[in-house]
Amino acid sequence: MKRYHVTTFGCQMNEHDSERMKGMLESLGYVEAAEREDADLILFNTCSIREAADNRFIAHLGTAKRLKSERPDRVVGVGGCWAQSVKDEVFERFPFVDVAFGPGQVHKLAEFLTSDSLTAQGYFEFEGFAGDLPEKRAREFQGWLQISVGCNMVCSYCIVPSTRGREVSRPLAALVAEVERMAADGVTEVTLLGQNVNAYGRDLPRRGEPAANFAELLSAVDAVDGIERIRYTSPHPQDMKEDVIRAHAELPALCEHVHLPLQSGSSRVLKAMRRTYTRERYLDRVALLREHVPDVALTTDIIVGFPGETEEDFAQTLFVCEQVAYDGAFTFVFSPRRGTEAATLPDQVPHPVKVERMERLVEVIQRRARERAQRFVGRTLEVLVEGPSRTDPTKLRGRSRHNKAVNFTGLAQPGEYVQVEIASATSQTLAGEESLLARAAR
Ligand code: SAH
Ligand code: SF4
Ligand code: F3S
Repeated sequence: MKRYHVTTFGCQMNEHDSERMKGMLESLGYVEAAEREDADLILFNTCSIREAADNRFIAHLGTAKRLKSERPDRVVGVGGCWAQSVKDEVFERFPFVDVAFGPGQVHKLAEFLTSDSLTAQGYFEFEGFAGDLPEKRAREFQGWLQISVGCNMVCSYCIVPSTRGREVSRPLAALVAEVERMAADGVTEVTLLGQNVNAYGRDLPRRGEPAANFAELLSAVDAVDGIERIRYTSPHPQDMKEDVIRAHAELPALCEHVHLPLQSGSSRVLKAMRRTYTRERYLDRVALLREHVPDVALTTDIIVGFPGETEEDFAQTLFVCEQVAYDGAFTFVFSPRRGTEAATLPDQVPHPVKVERMERLVEVIQRRARERAQRFVGRTLEVLVEGPSRTDPTKLRGRSRHNKAVNFTGLAQPGEYVQVEIASATSQTLAGEESLLARAAR
């Protein structure tokens, strides 16, 4: 029996693609190896979003090279966004790689493995969503749903449009059928994935009727029996319309959490980023969300040190963060990416300035998140149990509908929904005790 090992870098789309790769390999008779050393097929699913992502992966390639030289019959494969961004160059730079494929070409791996080709092969077409592959889920009760591939935005810092191609939405009926299959398999929480989820459907053929949009998709998924929670990532502030905001108030399964990437609080920088919204428009979306769902949790992505960002621009980012009081944020130092407009802009911000701004930003984000999290103390929240706590194995860990990690004492099993009385909160996590009264009442 042949054994495989997959190392995944990058975002949830890569996590999902890796689950599909694993499912596909197991259908070909491969089994998963616990360690890379034990594998006949060594795979990397790569990311290229920032330079640090490239470097992390290239360090791993050294190990693969050694393993390949020890046993030349091993197959080394590199998939994902980094592979797409360098294409066939990968074979010149890393001659021990046997197969390379872009994010849209996961299924071609099977073609390669079942052919008797001995030469290095690269697969880099963009052809929309590559069909129904079996999935090997990390947790049987949580599933991903890829609603579209690619991205039609042109954010000037971003490599993704060149690694994932133009946006292609999957038909609504195919998505609903997939969610029904997931629910039949025991999935209760589904996360819809796309680079700009609320542009969903715009590219679908109309045939006289209006194409399905994102709000309609949400309500169709909400109607599937067995789905308790719906999440999605990421919406674009430009396309965050009232119908989607209302859906958060109206659809029982749609969680009270929105990840709304800000990137910068300065309209001038947003323009240079080609983000197509202003600070005012963004704050207006936040106000509308809070009007319809007062308790909504908001998280965001922010880039510090975009070319030309002045102290005044940065102060505006801090101002927005103070004002919104995010429940959490991913903060990134701007990283010039090959082939992007922003990489060649003048006025690149010196590294020490980026680092210093990052420290100030993190202080504001954490302080506001900690303050905001106190609203949960004293409340009883529904938690989906994921497993043991990472820091204390005598405790359990799960997530609230607001997407807060909750560590708690209790009797629950992974996959169960339980009521947890929240006793304390930090910027990142909540802590409490399972309500045994609620357990007894079930
Ligand atoms: N499509 C999603 C996010 C894709 S990438 C969206 O638009 O929200 C995830 C995050 O990485 C982005 O939101 C951005 O904050 C960050 N990012 C992307 N390119 C970057 C770069 N060149 N340097 C630093 N951060 C970057
Ligand atoms: Fe990149 Fe912008 Fe598309 Fe997000 S919306 S993937 S940041 S180009
Ligand atoms: Fe995701 Fe990284 Fe590609 S963030 S879309 S795997 S560049």
